[in-house]
Amino acid sequence: MSAPFYITTPIYYVNARPHLGHAYTTLVADAACRFNSMRGSMHGGKTFFLTGTDEHGDKIIRAAKKENLSPKAYVDKISGMFKDLLPELNIKYNYFIRTTDASHIAVVEKILQKIYDSGDIYFSQYEGLYCFGCERFYTERELVDGKCPDHLTEPEVIKESNYFFRMSRYQDWLIDHIRTNPDFIRPEQYKNEVLAFLREPLEDLCISRPKTRLKWGITLPFDQNYVTYVWFDALINYISALGYPDGDLFKTFWPHAQHVVAKDILKPHGIYWPIMLKAAGIPAYKHLNVHGYWNIDQNKISKSTGNIVEPLQLKNVYGLDAFRFFLMRDMVFGLDSNFSEKSVIQRINSDLANDLGNLFSRVIAMTHKYFNGVVPEIDSDVAEEFTLGLKTDALNTIEAFEKAMESFAFHKSLIAIWEFISRMNKYVDIMAPWELAKKKANRKQLEVVIYNLLEGLRILSGLIYPIMPDTAKTMQNHLGIDPIGINQEKPFYNLDLLKTWEITKPGTTLPKAITLFPRIDINKIVFAEDSDSPESLAPEIKPEITFETFSKIDLRVATVVRAEVIPRSKKLLKLEIDLGGKRTVVAGISGSYKPDDLVGKQVIIVANLKPAKLMGILSNGMVIAAVEKNRCTIAVPEKNVKPGTPLG
Ligand code: MSP
Repeated sequence: MSAPFYITTPIYYVNARPHLGHAYTTLVADAACRFNSMRGSMHGGKTFFLTGTDEHGDKIIRAAKKENLSPKAYVDKISGMFKDLLPELNIKYNYFIRTTDASHIAVVEKILQKIYDSGDIYFSQYEGLYCFGCERFYTERELVDGKCPDHLTEPEVIKESNYFFRMSRYQDWLIDHIRTNPDFIRPEQYKNEVLAFLREPLEDLCISRPKTRLKWGITLPFDQNYVTYVWFDALINYISALGYPDGDLFKTFWPHAQHVVAKDILKPHGIYWPIMLKAAGIPAYKHLNVHGYWNIDQNKISKSTGNIVEPLQLKNVYGLDAFRFFLMRDMVFGLDSNFSEKSVIQRINSDLANDLGNLFSRVIAMTHKYFNGVVPEIDSDVAEEFTLGLKTDALNTIEAFEKAMESFAFHKSLIAIWEFISRMNKYVDIMAPWELAKKKANRKQLEVVIYNLLEGLRILSGLIYPIMPDTAKTMQNHLGIDPIGINQEKPFYNLDLLKTWEITKPGTTLPKAITLFPRIDINKIVFAEDSDSPESLAPEIKPEITFETFSKIDLRVATVVRAEVIPRSKKLLKLEIDLGGKRTVVAGISGSYKPDDLVGKQVIIVANLKPAKLMGILSNGMVIAAVEKNRCTIAVPEKNVKPGTPLG
């Protein structure tokens, strides 16, 4: 039985909606967790996957104010968006934690009290440089040109009495721990970054905020005038979610804890957190896995810099599994990567449609052509001779896959799988089943070849499971694999089963082949990022019209009451709007907005446009939007007004 596996994502700040960066980290954790479940039995359940939201602190208060909501209403709303994204990404998580949960707050208080009682928290006056964006004090040497490196703003000098966590006491212990556990922080460059930081004396950490400045936080159990620093609160989620100190989950999973974060939060996870754990008498986590940034046009996608382009929308356009595959294949874990729609399409066409998709439909089609879709029986006397080492290659692939997945080198695991795909394609070319089929005398060879190819596909379906779980399932169904039929205990992606040859049952009738990934015609797509091409210049202004002509256009503000996708349409959404009375409009904005983004929003409508039928639906008006190539940005009133208000 394999060891338990516990994986966490950072808990995301609820000061803005989820974007690609958050989705990537969560997908990484999902792939790692699904990989580990390949080792257990169907009923073992020895993995635990935690994600959630970080809901206290200055940042959140400011965001709530901006939206005119109470902090509680605001955090509920955005936390809900993060939670709703999980099924959309097919994330198989166990628990979603919120730092406003009473059970979490109780554990934070317990840890604070414990560390306070042991003498590692003290009270003192402090004057320092504070960045409101990061909600933390900066030392001079951390600033770049006197500015916060993340927010590019000058921190403010703040003087106040506060509680401090005696981190300095544990500096030598941490250096030693990192040295004796070389993969405590991985990949290596991040371990070195933390060690480099620890070469300088570690300053004690200010872990309180006076309530006069901030109320939205967890009150210190030993001083009611202060709340705790948001990071001190947030990091503890990793153990509060497991029911620290007595919960069974804590006992089972904490010794196997692995965190996934991006490099922006290396310091709190690589320094504060292990020291907090040490001071509270809790063993350190096992691994901190650190990845780089997804950039768009070389800028980090971030809510503070405002370029939250909607790459996440591409999952609806090109399919979730293809999107998951792209992210895991294109980013070298640890390094930054650039996101573009073009590269998504190129990957889909070459790796998915061509390599995997073709092999799959080709083999199933041959099974139908030569064996009426029935898995052939093989003669073991000839099997070995005509396998040409495919079995050994499969085993080597699984070994490389496991090694890469264990160390979070997802791109390497996919490279290994794709080498096996190309090895299988070569096997087809060498054995040329179409030639074997010509002579009756070669029937036994043909049986072996087709059987081996089906076995190869079965193994592939298992290996892609962590990254493309739906495709894995589709392949499995088309390969006639019934997990219960194979083994009462183990699912089809179980590693022991993948390492065993001749699992596919002769005599099984397979469904007809399908196209796993349709090819995308790259020439038919207009890319938003081709911004320097001549066609992308603003179009010429249309010929002049009189005011009288213009005044014939009846523009109104309307509230979107309902929104839904129109099946089989890539661009259109059906909106029910209220502009005094209700009516339906069809808007070509589906590539840029999800139905949920629109409900409750006010939009501007051409109210007297002659009704027209689009995809069989009568559209009674038109939504005004800025149109840039294939992206739309709807025009909205600056603040909400009564539905039906005319524009003039
Ligand atoms: N609330 C803290 C984390 C507390 S954990 C105890 C926080 N939240 S965050 O919303 O800002 O999320 C940061 C994390 O989101 C990054 O570490 C990373 O996992 C993910 N990403 C955000 N932008 C990203 C990219 N552009 N690229 C890749 N991942 C990014 O920090």
